[in-house]
Amino acid sequence: MEIKKFQLTNTGRFSEIEVLLAPTPSKQSNITVFVGNNGAGKTSLLKSLATSLSWLVARLRTEKGNGNTIPEDVIRNGANYATIEIELIDKKDRAVNSDVGSANPVFHWSIAKTRKGRKSVKTSVLTGASELAGFYRGGLSQDDKTSVPLIAFYPVERVVLDIPLKIKDRHSFLQLDGYDNSLNQGVDFRRFFEWFREREDAENETGISADMFKQIARLFDDQDEIWTKLSALKASSRDRQLTAVRTAISHFMPGFSSLRVRRKPRLHMSIDKNGETLNVAQLSQGEKSLMALVGDIARRLAMMNPALENPLHGDGVVLIDEVDLHLHPKWQRTLISSFTATFPNCQFVLTTHSPLVISDNKDVLCYLLDDGELTVAEDLYGADANSVLLSVMDTDIRNAEINKKLHDLLDAIQDAELELASTLLSELTKELPESHIELTKARLLLRKQELRHAKN
Ligand SMILES: Nc1ncnc2c1ncn2[C@@H]1O[C@H](COP(=O)(O)OP(=O)(O)O)[C@@H](O)[C@H]1O
Ligand SMILES: [Mg+2]
Repeated sequence: MEIKKFQLTNTGRFSEIEVLLAPTPSKQSNITVFVGNNGAGKTSLLKSLATSLSWLVARLRTEKGNGNTIPEDVIRNGANYATIEIELIDKKDRAVNSDVGSANPVFHWSIAKTRKGRKSVKTSVLTGASELAGFYRGGLSQDDKTSVPLIAFYPVERVVLDIPLKIKDRHSFLQLDGYDNSLNQGVDFRRFFEWFREREDAENETGISADMFKQIARLFDDQDEIWTKLSALKASSRDRQLTAVRTAISHFMPGFSSLRVRRKPRLHMSIDKNGETLNVAQLSQGEKSLMALVGDIARRLAMMNPALENPLHGDGVVLIDEVDLHLHPKWQRTLISSFTATFPNCQFVLTTHSPLVISDNKDVLCYLLDDGELTVAEDLYGADANSVLLSVMDTDIRNAEINKKLHDLLDAIQDAELELASTLLSELTKELPESHIELTKARLLLRKQELRHAKN
């Protein structure tokens, strides 16, 4: 499944906007990124997509299911109604269903909302959602291990809840439970933890627990034949879904491995970080939120693709608002390539405030959203991408004080006031991320001036 485009009328600040999503002929990746000032409308775009997709999810779960409606306050002020239209293709070969024709059938649907007390001129047309959902349900009726697409929205309010110490009931996790809360709440560590424990219990019933295995390891040397056999046995008894989650996390967070549940001294989740075992609760906010996000995507994919050898290769659509939230600049830079490498068949629609997120990626479709106007950031890649983006995002994002200091710094360099410049530079270095492009530039310029000065 792949969204080709969507169209909003009188939704949020947009009176009319059409957005094509990657992959497009010129941008072959599965990733679309929106950048722009606060209030530019990024969140509105994602929320509209989520609202639209909720109808597909609802009808996947039950034939006449209802998704979310457009909230009244989302209708553009002064307008009488709002509509959200969407166009998708389904890439699966569904030759069986000859009524839709050959490969890549196209599906449309639209939802409409009229302001209370106004005459309705637009109505929702949901046949496309029903048809597409019908295909998937048809597939499931024939084979209950058929894959279903991941559909998930991670809003800014995604919270990384603390990990519960006690878990009340045992859940049964079914394939379609992969859609639970997938469009309203985002990351939910409690669910993740419950699911993980459940799977791990099953894994341990047929195998040896990770901690036990570590202890056993000490009894053998690496070359021992019994040890080799034991390792192979351990690998084969591993739960494929858990393996998927663990793999995804270690792709995004190099150095982290062996996520597992421990029961002593209290029930908790632990992970090895560069060889040291830590309680997940001890991780930093950035580490926790990336782990929760990646873990949640991987868990849902694993649930929805029970027959895939590698569930991370399942398909779907993932929407993430402010994807750089809490993340260290170093991780922001690698984020998109990690998404592409770890979840190659998912389509991502992201928003960000951080130029670092897109700076290293050529095939990403990047839109600048400025005052409700959408422009493709076509030639931004390369040397000047960061500064152009910063100039678009500047005014509201960077605080005025820092802005002034940056200007003063550049002036000081220009006027060869080297002492002042290096004071300002060290002040700014404390406040801004190390890889901040303006600072890097300033550093180089200052160095040049110093050299020139030394020569004279
Ligand atoms: N119903 C509405 N009518 C007109 N403008 C709206 C409406 N709802 C929101 N907006 C405008 O849209 C902006 C919010 O957009 P949002 O998508 O949250 O921006 P971003 O996520 O880019 O910061 C607000 O600043 C507001 O000006
Ligand atoms: Mg926003």
